Amino acid sequence: MASRVLSQEIEPGFHLLRVDDVDVEYFEGIWSIPEKVTYNAYLLVGDGGAVLFDGWKGIYADDLIEVIRGIVDLKDITHVIVHHAEPDHSGSLSKVLEANGFRAEVVAHPMAKPMIEAFYRIAPRFRLVKDGEELALAGEKIKIIYTPWLHWPETIMSYLPDRRALITCDAFGGYSTPRAIFDDDEGVVKEYLPSVRKYVANIIGFYRQHITRNIEKIQSLNLSIGILAPAHGLIWRRNPQLIIDYYRSLAEGRPDGNKILIISGSMYRLLEKAAAIAADEVERLGGRAIFYRFNDSSQPPFSEILSDAMDSRAIIIAATTYEAGVYPPLEHLVDLISRKIPQKPVLVIGSYGWGPAAARKISEKLASAGFKIIDKIEFQGSASEEDIRRIREGVKMLLESS
Ligand SMILES: Cc1cc2nc3c(=O)[nH]c(=O)nc-3n(C[C@H](O)[C@H](O)[C@H](O)COP(=O)(O)O)c2cc1C
Ligand SMILES: [Fe+2]
Ligand SMILES: [Fe+2]
Repeated sequence: MASRVLSQEIEPGFHLLRVDDVDVEYFEGIWSIPEKVTYNAYLLVGDGGAVLFDGWKGIYADDLIEVIRGIVDLKDITHVIVHHAEPDHSGSLSKVLEANGFRAEVVAHPMAKPMIEAFYRIAPRFRLVKDGEELALAGEKIKIIYTPWLHWPETIMSYLPDRRALITCDAFGGYSTPRAIFDDDEGVVKEYLPSVRKYVANIIGFYRQHITRNIEKIQSLNLSIGILAPAHGLIWRRNPQLIIDYYRSLAEGRPDGNKILIISGSMYRLLEKAAAIAADEVERLGGRAIFYRFNDSSQPPFSEILSDAMDSRAIIIAATTYEAGVYPPLEHLVDLISRKIPQKPVLVIGSYGWGPAAARKISEKLASAGFKIIDKIEFQGSASEEDIRRIREGVKMLLESS
């Protein structure tokens, strides 16, 4: 499949350079994203030169250069602002600088310098910036805001007061290749938000306290934001506050209605029958059950399960015992949930053949991460009538406690 390149002057002198990465299967080499992702760079063209904000993944470097060439001479770029050194945005940097004859200064946080030098084995001229620093580039004021851990420790944002534009890099971004550039159409936004949730759960979930902290920091600066321009997905100009509020609600673990996530890992589906009973009970008691099963015919993507975990009210985990531990896909999943997902009540169901382990290990892992374990129900083989009664009771307690 060929990638799709979009270049648009979104305001006089301010260009979006977007590529839809339809080649990617696993973001960061991990997260399954059939919906794909965009990389958004921005180009400011003004008096005395041009400023490039971020870039694209390395494989698209030549495409980026071609797009820039359609707007300005590469040699006219005086500065490249690297908001974040992760190669989905900085991968094109070497080639861009080469095409520019290494005339441009790389504007970045001090922590980004050794990363860029080590990633690409280049030694460009750097202009290292501090939080709150104001630059005058391409005839415009650019205020640097340090926003650590969104998504790495070196991440900065740029605010262009004359345009009321905040360029936010990973923060306020999402997966998918939206069919529009802006948030103007409510239908497009509605379609896009699940991909934002999935992106946050997969990529920034581990740093969720920093989402809240940085939003508060941005708010304390009283910036007037007319355009919010992230490095992935839609640009926000109709309602930038919507994406800020959505990020905050995800980071704080605000549930989406009565959604209850049920995850089952079962080799021969004895345990899955018990998990299905729990799912039915959730629905019977008025919850909305989202049921993922690992079994001999299905391996749902971790990326999707984490996305649903993010804004579920509570979680039910059913896992069988495997080699004196947890059935491996669920062991991995529980580990991811313990790190990336806001704490919430959990009901654990486990099974075993000769020596129980799964339920205890899952409960210990999640309890130590601050999750509230409502009950731990464990049985040999398949659930007895008494086990089923306890499962129903557990579901009731779970719904009451969440
Ligand atoms: C590869 C494999 C490893 C297993 N390891 C253990 C184990 O270490 N301890 C245990 O008690 N049962 C173990 N079992 C047995 C399962 O936990 C038991 O059969 C369980 O009922 C399987 O549930 P399921 O039919 O829902 O997959 C193992 C089974 C398999 C196939
Ligand atoms: Fe990143
Ligand atoms: Fe990114």
